[in-house]
Amino acid sequence: MSYTLSINGTRLQQRLKVLGEYGALPGGGVSRLALTDTDRQGRDCVVGWMRELGLEISIDQFGNVVGRRAGLEDGPAVMTGSHIDTVSTGGLYDGNLGVLAGLEVIETLNDAGIQTRKPLAVAFFTNEEGARFAPDMMGSCVFTGVLDLETALATEGIDGTCVGDELARIGYRGDAPVNRASEQASAFVELHIEQGPILEQDGVRIGAVEGVQGISWTEFVIRGTSNHAGTTPMNLRQDAALVAAEITVFVRQLADRMGGRQLATVGHCEYRPNLVNVIPNLVTLTVDLRNTDEALLQQAEAELFAFVNALSDREGVKISQRSLARFEPVVFDAELVARIDRIAREQGNSVMRLPSGAGHDAQMFAPICPTAMIFVPSADGISHNVREHTDSDDLEAGANVLLQTLLELAEQA
Ligand code: HGY
Ligand code: MN
Ligand code: MN
Repeated sequence: MSYTLSINGTRLQQRLKVLGEYGALPGGGVSRLALTDTDRQGRDCVVGWMRELGLEISIDQFGNVVGRRAGLEDGPAVMTGSHIDTVSTGGLYDGNLGVLAGLEVIETLNDAGIQTRKPLAVAFFTNEEGARFAPDMMGSCVFTGVLDLETALATEGIDGTCVGDELARIGYRGDAPVNRASEQASAFVELHIEQGPILEQDGVRIGAVEGVQGISWTEFVIRGTSNHAGTTPMNLRQDAALVAAEITVFVRQLADRMGGRQLATVGHCEYRPNLVNVIPNLVTLTVDLRNTDEALLQQAEAELFAFVNALSDREGVKISQRSLARFEPVVFDAELVARIDRIAREQGNSVMRLPSGAGHDAQMFAPICPTAMIFVPSADGISHNVREHTDSDDLEAGANVLLQTLLELAEQA
């Protein structure tokens, strides 16, 4: 089947470039942590584009923004979108591609004077990354009722700030009620970069994503005794730094021992007082465990927690732990995945099925309406890194698959 309609790749690239200027890092990359001033600037920019495209804009009480294009009929919209917050060493494409490709689809339909039976909507969700305020996908969790509004607003960040205060400070504490996803979305499709090496290694352009692996984030606070590095005998230390280092080594050995798709990362570690000649008395570190299999993810958690308990007894330190995020693996709608696969092939792309290693807003919609994702390759499999890159042909191909998928779901009038 040939498709006459296609997006304007240059226009999409231009928007990605302009949005990337908000929080641009010297030498390349973007830092637009959730609810910072650069996040506000990015939000204002995208809301401005939504307005220019004639979308009806709603901002909910958690700062989630939805731009809606009327269909001939009313009712829930065929929704697309993602996030525009980034990690502090982010790139141009993580999240941003999904939002801006959605706007590109809208503009392409506007230019062609095409109406759809069902409404269309493009959304961006607050704090998908979870890097400043855990958990990740926080905005889409509130949008879909997975997380209640008050708990989310009360969340304290790694910098001691509070989500509700920051949301108000940047002017995005809207009025629209939250937890209305079932009224608002009849289907959800998210375009995203793969952020890993699989598509590129296999020389494939489009990923028809079948689901998202399980995610477990735990914060450990290790309390030892600060003491003089020069006068404290080794056998008399309650050394929080040693315990943190042993946990770090343990999680790597755990993942290697379990093999398969088990992943384990210590991404955040903070020493107090963090001085060369003082045995640290307080260390905070985070462990990110992931697996496509829920039972194996629970096994990894159980082994980690048992190890930490034994360690605290052995070293005479106190260790408290709290879950920062916990999402079970998600399976996307098989029919919608097949539709994406078919469209991508009909448009002349190589396609493969794969799970997502990263968490995404789409996973929150899977229990509510038919949901799936489209991946395009990440150069060198790099993401959450200023070197993040995706070739323009791949960006354009992904956006054209999104265009046709949304058009079929919303039914061209
Ligand atoms: O952590 C994740 O998987 C996502 O990037 N928030
Ligand atoms: Mn993302
Ligand atoms: Mn990300």
